[in-house]
Amino acid sequence: MAQLSARQIALTASRLWRKEKRFADSIISGLLAKAEITPSDGAFAMELFYGVLRNLTLLDFWISCLRASRVESDIRDNLQLGLYQLFLLKTPEHAAVHETVELAPRRQREIINAMLRAATRRRSELLARADAQPLFVRTSHPRFLVERWQQHFGTEQAEELCKWNTRPALVYGRINRLKIGYEEFLRLYPMSRPLTADSDFVELDALPVSALEQGHCYIQDPSTTIACHILDPKPGEKVLDACAAPGGKTSYMAQLMQNRGTIVACDRDPDRLQILKGNMARLRVVIAQILRHDWTCDRVPPEIALVAPLDRILVDVPCSNTGVMRRRVDLRWRLRRTDFDRMQQRQIEIVRALVPLLKPNGALVYSTCSLEPEENEEVVRRILAETPILRLEAERYSLPFRDGFDGAFAAKLVRNV
Ligand SMILES: C[S@@+](CC[C@H](N)C(=O)[O-])C[C@H]1O[C@@H](n2cnc3c(N)ncnc32)[C@H](O)[C@@H]1O
Repeated sequence: MAQLSARQIALTASRLWRKEKRFADSIISGLLAKAEITPSDGAFAMELFYGVLRNLTLLDFWISCLRASRVESDIRDNLQLGLYQLFLLKTPEHAAVHETVELAPRRQREIINAMLRAATRRRSELLARADAQPLFVRTSHPRFLVERWQQHFGTEQAEELCKWNTRPALVYGRINRLKIGYEEFLRLYPMSRPLTADSDFVELDALPVSALEQGHCYIQDPSTTIACHILDPKPGEKVLDACAAPGGKTSYMAQLMQNRGTIVACDRDPDRLQILKGNMARLRVVIAQILRHDWTCDRVPPEIALVAPLDRILVDVPCSNTGVMRRRVDLRWRLRRTDFDRMQQRQIEIVRALVPLLKPNGALVYSTCSLEPEENEEVVRRILAETPILRLEAERYSLPFRDGFDGAFAAKLVRNV
């Protein structure tokens, strides 16, 4: 690809996202991989692209204030990029307007220039009008989602959650104790800041490329370890990680088990299993048996029948991901009202297939990174209602507005003797 500026890449990415409906992450990483661009320009392109996606409703609100009649989609893409820089990124006016206008074909430049200049003149008025808008406009979320969160969490916490989702996510690394000690890690990677709340984790300003290559750490939010902690796998046990890829929890459980025992790490997705395999090798996990299996198909694979019954099962199901919305920037624009019930059916189906594999007194932890009751407590209630041999031993939530980390849910079900 010819040399492109950060703004050109961001604009191309926004346009591809709008037209092709592909995942935002794959669009921008595909473009950056082909672009001849410095790392800092690459980071700026990502900031622009994700920033626009996070603020789409608000940017469109300002566009509607600037022009009552219809705005062509291609022109709208440029305006969103320009307004994001002007009002949210606080880019100097000249650069925000001039560079954004220059990206457009000649015939569109006049209108884009006029609208961005009008926005700079009307700055205070437009910012005040935005402040008076309902939460779903101010924080750019689908209205139905904001309304269900307001009902479920209350007005203030829903507001906190929406604001949380609109801020760029912090990067956390889990120190991989299978390869390196805590002190040694901090000595080798002095840019990392230890978390006082959890000594397994550090906060980072950027991806620690060398630490990742060496398997010294794994990028993971602290909330993801809750499920592993309540499962509490012990050295020497037989554990099934039913939906394991890409292996964040498998590798943490291997650490808790001091790399002794067995973890059967299953997933139905072959590409994700390849990533898991690479991760296990890099992180020096030696107890994972990797297996492709879809739990919604009938038979139990012979590899699992051989190790069953299991001491512990982790089922980290596919879910709507509403707890990690600040990391999955375009997720909010893909979610539909019906997704939560649809996911629930699949989640229950997966858990049902696993219960017979658990030994008496064995524990199964059901976990999600969703904040929605349909995918969390309701699944647990329904499983308990239809499976009298299980009892609920613990339930935990991580809530962004309360705990300061991603949203997550975990419930521990124990099989009666
Ligand atoms: C939330 S992710 C798992 C994340 C993983 N536990 C970790 O910590 O890295 C859910 C996984 O479930 C897998 N999955 C979805 N449906 C499945 C099914 N029916 N059987 C097996 N795996 C499934 C997906 O491919 C995906 O990798």
